[in-house]
Amino acid sequence: MSVDPTGTIEGLLVESRRYPPNPEFAASANVNDPEIYQRASDDPEGFWASVAAELDWDQKWDTVLEWDPPKVSWFNGGKLNVSYNCVDRHVKTWRKTKAAIIWEGEAGEERILTYQELYREVNRTALMLKSLGVAKGDRVAVYLPMIPELAIILLACARIGAPHSVVFGGFSPDSLSDRINDCGAKVLVTADGGFRRGAVVALKENADKALEDTPTIEHVVVVQRVGAEKHPVEMKKGRDIWWHDAMAAVSGNYCAPESLDAEHPLYILYTSGTTGKPKGVLHTTGGYLVGAYATSKWVLDLKDDDIYWCTADIGWVTGHSYIVYGPLANGATSVMFEGTPDYPDRDRFWDIIERRAITVLYTAPTAIRACMRWGTEHVEKHDLSSLRLLGTVGEPINPEAWIWYNDHIGHGKCPIVDTWWQTETGAIMISGLPGLTTMKPGSATVPLPGIVPDIVDEQGNSVPDGQGGYLVMRRPWPSMFRTIWGDWDRYVSTYFSKYGPNVYVTGDGAKRDDEGYIWLMGRVDDVLNVAGHRLGTMEIESALVSHPSVAEAAVIGVSDELKGQAVAAFVTPRLGVDANDALVNELRAHVSEKIGPIARPDRIFFTAELPKTRSAKIMRRLLRDVAEGRVMGDTTTLTDPTVLEEIKKQYEDTGAAE
Ligand code: PRX
Repeated sequence: MSVDPTGTIEGLLVESRRYPPNPEFAASANVNDPEIYQRASDDPEGFWASVAAELDWDQKWDTVLEWDPPKVSWFNGGKLNVSYNCVDRHVKTWRKTKAAIIWEGEAGEERILTYQELYREVNRTALMLKSLGVAKGDRVAVYLPMIPELAIILLACARIGAPHSVVFGGFSPDSLSDRINDCGAKVLVTADGGFRRGAVVALKENADKALEDTPTIEHVVVVQRVGAEKHPVEMKKGRDIWWHDAMAAVSGNYCAPESLDAEHPLYILYTSGTTGKPKGVLHTTGGYLVGAYATSKWVLDLKDDDIYWCTADIGWVTGHSYIVYGPLANGATSVMFEGTPDYPDRDRFWDIIERRAITVLYTAPTAIRACMRWGTEHVEKHDLSSLRLLGTVGEPINPEAWIWYNDHIGHGKCPIVDTWWQTETGAIMISGLPGLTTMKPGSATVPLPGIVPDIVDEQGNSVPDGQGGYLVMRRPWPSMFRTIWGDWDRYVSTYFSKYGPNVYVTGDGAKRDDEGYIWLMGRVDDVLNVAGHRLGTMEIESALVSHPSVAEAAVIGVSDELKGQAVAAFVTPRLGVDANDALVNELRAHVSEKIGPIARPDRIFFTAELPKTRSAKIMRRLLRDVAEGRVMGDTTTLTDPTVLEEIKKQYEDTGAAE
């Protein structure tokens, strides 16, 4: 960890505004008895067992928790199926005619799948996967736009026990092939394309490029989203098959759900880390479902008459847990939207909320800040009175954005839950409960029942209230990831070694105030959070260095009003290379091609040398000081302090600091 979290603490606002629970909301909230916290802390295993008992198990567990730090397993001996819990059990009730998924396409198209219809699609898709030779344990890679088939394929994989690995549609061919190869996927499910602001995203072409180098893939199933008139694609004989053809060939409408061990792998999802390639975070069946189910119920307060909308993409963990698994396990109606908040107009979100009478909205601070900037006139055009609860996720929300969300979207009557969690945690960990907690704008508030965080110093000692430190978890929780796919050692060294195997290191800095509220301070490692998306500085540096004009590169995150953090790159060109604007554009395009447009540096700054320690480590911390115009931290370990002075001068001269 390279940043001292105590260094940034002064920057935090002292926020004194309080928003106590609304009594009317509290009266009917799913959780309104504060005793739940005590129950969970008195007997954590008994508590989680009682939560797990709300799901349908084929066979009950023998033990709730086996913890041989850092190895952990939950509900050992228990057997269940996630798709059964998300679909079949609702079809057996009146919910079979209830909308499970309401999908809205970018151009305004609509598909509504009732639980019965979803059941039929999931069963037939599971049969289709089997007909392609996918068996329990085989991995299925998924590279799709936000269309209903994405939710369906996840549930179909879960039904037959084939772990899925979703790759966000904005990632490049290289990123896709890396992930496919890392998990050894047998089948890829993609589409002829997707839509983004009216333009076609060439998913199949990207997939074709990726597949030049993915020996494990046997079949590619292609959903026709765009159509041959607009965007013809090539289908490789013997390898590629259209989704609709494969489905038409399926006989039967029922595929018995596999009865799976609680610890059977459910999915792998890649996320950026501090070093090397993205890590395949592995979630398993029982514990993950317990976490996604319970938190959707407690925090998002999902009820049968809700129309719930999470604006995330299923390519990220938020979409996994809070569009698909959590809401459906609760029998809720989950809205899925393909587009963006500003297409065709800047009122798209509010238009959807009004038309569909959304009751619970879960979105990201970056979207809120963008809407704030576009002005309230877009909001005021719409009747948002259906809303009763608001949530945010992905990055710290600045108090002003919180207040704007509260005033202009919630009209002061909707509780706001600021939910802190991670791909690794599988489910929300720190968040207020809307019927119980007094909210403080900018704080994720308090740990959920059964979650035991702490804030510690470099040595692992708890820090006093008000002092910054490293956020850790002192006890395991059901939905925690179980390993990094194929790399147990990396799991242990990244997350369970700094303070020993009992303590999970989150990578975030935080402080606790005198009422026990937790305030997140951002990452303390070399991970960036750009518009709620995690990116590793190393990944972007490697992409830059793979360009023939680049000798060396250092990437940092700089504060950005809209995106939280923006990517800034300090690049040393190779000798003889002309470092001009054309090269800036070329490098940005290069990173975009290597990783995906989300990783494209916002600013590139050329420098003859980078500041390094005597052991040749690039001092990113000092570059951050330069970029953010701070007083320079300790420079005594630098080989040549003048390098930094020179960068600072040039940086200020060229206006790169703007
Ligand atoms: O730094 C924290 C930030 O996002 C990181 C996790 O990113 P990812 O695994 O991509 O998952 C995002 C969706 C859960 C965390 O380490 N983060 C997430 N939620 C919050 C947050 N930071 C502050 N407040 C939050 N509510």
